[in-house]
Amino acid sequence: MRRFLIAGNWKMNTLRQSGVALAGELAAVAAHEEAGVEVLVCPPYPYLLPVGERIGGSAVQLGAQDVYFESPGAFTGEIAVEMLKDCGCRYVLIGHSERRAILGETDAVINRKVRAALAGGLTVVLCVGELLAERQSGQTEEVLDRQMEGGFSGISEAEAASIVVAYEPVWAIGTGRTASPEQAQEVHAVLRAQLKAATSHSDRISILYGGSMNAANAAQLLAQPDIDGGLIGGAALKAPDFLAIMAAGSVSA
Ligand code: PGA
Repeated sequence: MRRFLIAGNWKMNTLRQSGVALAGELAAVAAHEEAGVEVLVCPPYPYLLPVGERIGGSAVQLGAQDVYFESPGAFTGEIAVEMLKDCGCRYVLIGHSERRAILGETDAVINRKVRAALAGGLTVVLCVGELLAERQSGQTEEVLDRQMEGGFSGISEAEAASIVVAYEPVWAIGTGRTASPEQAQEVHAVLRAQLKAATSHSDRISILYGGSMNAANAAQLLAQPDIDGGLIGGAALKAPDFLAIMAAGSVSA
């Protein structure tokens, strides 16, 4: 069974007070497991603990936006899997397009992070997606194939079931220009086929859509047969918007 997940990626936003307040508003609504929908928030590292405390006892889960692949040691500025778990994280985002493009993360680095996170017992949200130029030159499938191969390489069959894929076309992230439900569904079906070929656990791997999902377009996107939830940036920072997306999710789940 595939989980249906509505995830908020707060990126480098909020301060402690505003982050905890936002978490509180979500926790108040998601007091119990919503009809088949899992809810996740990924605040900046310094706010994992206070946000985790605020959502404690509710159905909202805690995740981090990145992780390093080494065990604790001399890696200035990095954060280990053990530390995220110690802070109450169950999830971690890996391979977000901003980390690929701005921080220079390669598929090889992303693969090491995926493997370390899975070995440590975290659920990985592996982000993939093509650039506008890649889409326009007909390379979408090839790019996704490479990113999926990079993410999944060396993963055991059992571990694969702890991966969630997030399809985020880079041209739709933070631009207000979302993929149409048909465009998104088309790519999700391709990803689903790639997963089927790669693992016998494909029916347990959810595929989220991300990229300018908001309260107005969520219902249509989430109703697509191969879209199992959303990874939301900008609209995750406003409680009413994120709550509306959660509600749309519980209709589709
Ligand atoms: P956006 O970001 O919803 O602001 O487009 C999505 C993401 O980057 O995960």
